[in-house]
Amino acid sequence: MTNKLFTPSRLGTLELRNRSIRSAAFEGMAPGHLVSDDLISYHRSVAAGGVGMTTVAYASVSQSGLSFNHQLWMRREALPGLCRLTEAVHREGAAVSIQLGHCGLMAKRSLSGGKCFAPSGRFNLYGPTWPRTVTREEIRSIVKDFGGATRMAVEAGFDAVEIHAGHGYFISQFLSPVTNHRKDEYGGSFENRCRFLREVIREVMQAAGNRLAVTVKMNLSDGVPGGCGITEAISIAQLLEKEGVHGLVLSGGFVSSAPMYVMRGAMPIPVMARYIKNRLMGLGVLLFGRFLIKPEPFSEAYFLDDALKIREKVKLPLIFVGGLNSLATIEKVLSLGFDFVQFARPLIHDPEYINKLKRGEITQSGCQHSNYCIARMYSGKMVCSQHLDQE
Ligand SMILES: Cc1cc2nc3c(=O)[nH]c(=O)nc-3n(C[C@H](O)[C@H](O)[C@H](O)COP(=O)(O)O)c2cc1C
Ligand code: SF4
Repeated sequence: MTNKLFTPSRLGTLELRNRSIRSAAFEGMAPGHLVSDDLISYHRSVAAGGVGMTTVAYASVSQSGLSFNHQLWMRREALPGLCRLTEAVHREGAAVSIQLGHCGLMAKRSLSGGKCFAPSGRFNLYGPTWPRTVTREEIRSIVKDFGGATRMAVEAGFDAVEIHAGHGYFISQFLSPVTNHRKDEYGGSFENRCRFLREVIREVMQAAGNRLAVTVKMNLSDGVPGGCGITEAISIAQLLEKEGVHGLVLSGGFVSSAPMYVMRGAMPIPVMARYIKNRLMGLGVLLFGRFLIKPEPFSEAYFLDDALKIREKVKLPLIFVGGLNSLATIEKVLSLGFDFVQFARPLIHDPEYINKLKRGEITQSGCQHSNYCIARMYSGKMVCSQHLDQE
């Protein structure tokens, strides 16, 4: 019997050679906000390792959305590198997507060109940052930036873009009542909190013009008290289906306050403290991190119950992500009506994961959910702790 994982399937304009997608997982390989040889080499290796599509992690649509200095920024200077990256992946027979986003209140002043902003200017303990309230003119300008970044993705040869509307990034900050206290047409009612998302998606769909697939990564639940839950998620999924997007990536969590909800598994606080460059902040994380960050135990396919509620309500392709370690769980998820599966940690642990599953050499990933790779994000290149000796 053929495993469904290895069968081709359509995602909007695209036919993927199988149902596996490397999820957007920050590589830390874009010094000066530009594509490096390491970034190309990593995505080429994942493509050679058998995935249907790989996703380049968070690329900011504008300077004001930068939070790390080794993070991509979609500007003209980045285009030649992006072209080299898409060519390298295509040569290995895989498709390539790029995650486009803005981080709002998580932006770092020294990189973003000014004080960070958010839907509402309230203190963010977890930054710590004190963003100012974003103006309507700035909102309009960022909507346009999403369109510009999508056009650049087309020009660079990407097959898809993934709009980051989850994890407490800027779009998610508008959706969530925890971070959106606006009194204008972008705040208050659920309809109003969805306005920025709808405007971004319309701009992106127009810019894409059927030349690439458009997917959206969204939250099933923010994982924080008072945040969006599954009822809002169902309405957001229906809204996005109506707007014509080609697929939804179903995730959850708010990285600025509930990061473990996204990931699950060990809380790597000492490693995180070690890699934070600002010593005072590192010490703060070491002393208070375990009181501020709620632990979330790992279990396979940890979003399944909520994701099934979305599956019941929409028809568009759904992409499952979160804790897919074994072939048995992957097949179960696909048999329940999900069209594609995304992997972050299994492919950080081993870019050959998909081919090894296909050849029957392994039945599950060797990732132990130590989350070292996450903790290291602050200053280092993405690497699995089990391969540190290769550095
Ligand atoms: C090192 C690392 C970096 C990540 N960076 C991003 C990111 O830039 N954007 C995003 O949407 N998710 C990010 N994630 C979350 C993953 O895309 C994925 O949703 C999560 O790891 C669960 O999938 P997994 O169990 O296959 O790892 C990151 C995860 C890891 C491990
Ligand atoms: S460091 Fe390696 S083992 Fe730990 S979570 Fe990341 S990929 Fe898995």
